[in-house]
Amino acid sequence: MNVIVTGGAGFIGSNLVHYLLRERPDWNVLNLDALTYAGNLENLADAEQNPRYRFVHADIADREAVDAAFDKFHPDAVMHLAAESHVDRSILDAGAFIHTNVLGTQVLLDAVRAMGGAIRFLHVSTDEVYGSLGPEGYFTEETPLAPNSPYSASKAASDMLVRASFQTHKMDVVTTRCSNNYGPFQFPEKLIPLMVANALEDKPLPVYGDGMNIRDWLYVEDHCAALLTALEKGKTGEVYNIGGHNEWPNIEIVKLILKHLDKSDTLIQFVTDRPGHDRRYAIDASKIEHELGWTPSHTFEQALPLTIQWYLDHREWSDRVRSGEYQKYYEQQYGGR
Ligand code: NAD
Ligand code: DAU
Repeated sequence: MNVIVTGGAGFIGSNLVHYLLRERPDWNVLNLDALTYAGNLENLADAEQNPRYRFVHADIADREAVDAAFDKFHPDAVMHLAAESHVDRSILDAGAFIHTNVLGTQVLLDAVRAMGGAIRFLHVSTDEVYGSLGPEGYFTEETPLAPNSPYSASKAASDMLVRASFQTHKMDVVTTRCSNNYGPFQFPEKLIPLMVANALEDKPLPVYGDGMNIRDWLYVEDHCAALLTALEKGKTGEVYNIGGHNEWPNIEIVKLILKHLDKSDTLIQFVTDRPGHDRRYAIDASKIEHELGWTPSHTFEQALPLTIQWYLDHREWSDRVRSGEYQKYYEQQYGGR
């Protein structure tokens, strides 16, 4: 089995590459990644000597480069994670989000179709496409799409392109929509690694608005397991929600981090809210649980401390990301090939 993982140098992508190499010892994995600010090949240093792992430096919106990679590798499946993923950046400038999330997804779909349609395409989307919930209820796969940020709007657009590829061209596609992930290798612009990094340096922890926005947190390895399950067992054309039944207001997460690091709550600083800030996400994951047999294996009580400890044990990784040093790794290790 040859699998292309797009965005394999990012947070979830790099965890997924490690997971696939470990869990599927006869699979070859090609990581196709443009190495934007969010791509860090140091996340995959452990995999570099593995003969079943390869890396191609390419933009998913570059048709020629994508076609060349497909021709060379002959994938049986594509797991599509490459994206611009940070809501705050999309508020400042949506351009890259349209380029990668919308155009890039269509270029990949075209490349799959050009190979004759025998390739399964797993589209990794997000619960943010459903918009925001009030205090009650959950997102199901039938919830209408109502994205509120340029990021989620671009992901919703990509979901529609994937849907169209099934309806029009009968392509073998499966879409997943997951809630917030946490774990190793997350870029420190996202809530949990940012708060850990700031707390360790006794810097203020910026909490948006009243801190009562709710997210449904899932350990990244559980997301990887769900993606493999959806790839192997998912029904063509279907959408599967993925979530951890684990809702927390942001302020509670921040306080848990401070407590774990033995730091004072006085570091918390309430700041101006994110425009269009979704109030609550909560996933009903019963479809993937009942139809495909996936359930999360990690509890928040175990995996949040493990995650904080990972960032404590990998301060050098965090320092290199925060200083920008990590962006030299590709040139140094691969000579820019
Ligand atoms: P990330 O920002 O950490 O990584 C994105 C990766 O994509 C990087 O390696 C980057 O270099 C690469 N990339 C960006 N533009 C590219 C392009 N044009 N061509 C090739 N590669 C490109 O993202 P993440 O948090 O790991 O998210 C991965 C996927 O999962 C995204 O599609 C995201 O929408 C989805 N998702 C994320 C979460 C979450 O909590 N992080 C939850 C649900 C779904
Ligand atoms: O729900 C899935 C989504 O989760 C993914 O699709 C996105 O790619 C991923 O980035 C994440 O989006 P969020 O916007 O929920 O994640 P973020 O870590 O940016 O923020 C989590 C919550 O914390 C959100 O309510 C905003 C708040 N926050 C965030 C930051 C960075 C703060 O209060 N302060 C901050 O400094």
